Amino acid sequence: MNTATNILNVLDYEKASQSRLDSTANDYYSSGAMDELTLSDNINAFTRIKLLPKVLRDVSNVVTSTHINAASLSSPVIISPTAFLGMAHSDGELAVARAAEHSGNIMICSTMSNYPIEDITATTNTDVWLQLYVYKDKEATLALIDRAKNAGCKAIVITVDAPFLGHRERDVRNQFQLPDHLHMSNLHALGHGKLPDKEGHSGLAHYFDSLIDKSLTWRDIKWLKEHANMPIYLKGILHPEDASLAVEYGIDGIIVSNHGGRQLDGSIASIDALPAVAKVVNKQIPIIMDGGIRRGSDILKALALGAQCVGVGRPVIWGLSHSGQQGVEDIFRILQSELSLAMALSGCANITDITKDLIVQKML
Ligand code: GLV
Repeated sequence: MNTATNILNVLDYEKASQSRLDSTANDYYSSGAMDELTLSDNINAFTRIKLLPKVLRDVSNVVTSTHINAASLSSPVIISPTAFLGMAHSDGELAVARAAEHSGNIMICSTMSNYPIEDITATTNTDVWLQLYVYKDKEATLALIDRAKNAGCKAIVITVDAPFLGHRERDVRNQFQLPDHLHMSNLHALGHGKLPDKEGHSGLAHYFDSLIDKSLTWRDIKWLKEHANMPIYLKGILHPEDASLAVEYGIDGIIVSNHGGRQLDGSIASIDALPAVAKVVNKQIPIIMDGGIRRGSDILKALALGAQCVGVGRPVIWGLSHSGQQGVEDIFRILQSELSLAMALSGCANITDITKDLIVQKML
């Protein structure tokens, strides 16, 4: 395949990666819950939002760099956590962490990475945040936080939308399991590193059923925050009331996310949830939005609607499975250059020029 002409955008990477991935892995990464309505709406929602560009604003030098709290970013895009990257490429999370440094972005590493968090932080100079699933086993949860801290992670991102795993029928049909050579390295020593086998079930859904804390409340978040003594983000906020509580509880930032359409099917597209959340947060803490970002213009829309930056999950997997670290760097290069062009064509020379009035108002 002539890469120069055939792979121009993120969706080209999606197509190219599908033929490289094992079908069970591809189903795991690409699937959503139930009828996958939210999965597709994350993409479709962007097509309903129309831009209202401005002109004559000197866009001879467009600058996409920005920051999220203390972290500098070459563009407002970070790596959302996705599990089991060893299924996409033998270098898995290590390749992604190296690509994040090379591209000037940061990585949120999944609790369920195949490489251990210490190896991931050691291979990169960029900020790595650890995404945390809260286990019923409190010792294991605290041990994960301590490990992240000792490994040099700069923040903990608590996933709050997954007391149970969403019903992903493709994984059930495949009786999803990790290949034998892979396990969850961060959980291995804590006795939770393997997915259980259960006839007719997704191994991951069964793992969640038995191990993840379903009783989690804001009180536990407070306790975890005190223990962690480092910046805490909450991932999986859609309701403005929850966003408001996050501010009240002193959370350092939120991720407006529906878990890539993998949890509650029929829930709102992340981009559609963003304006109401941004209104109540009122710039008191940063908002990251993920779900459905495929083009630079999607990033522009998310920033105009109140996100400080966006997260990408599946596009990183597609780049990784296509060509390892290089593929992930390409994904960032494509998104940055598309964003830069979309900014220029809408009259924005800097990220701070991206304001709500670039969106056709009846869409809000
Ligand atoms: C894991 O976080 C998943 O959504 O599969």
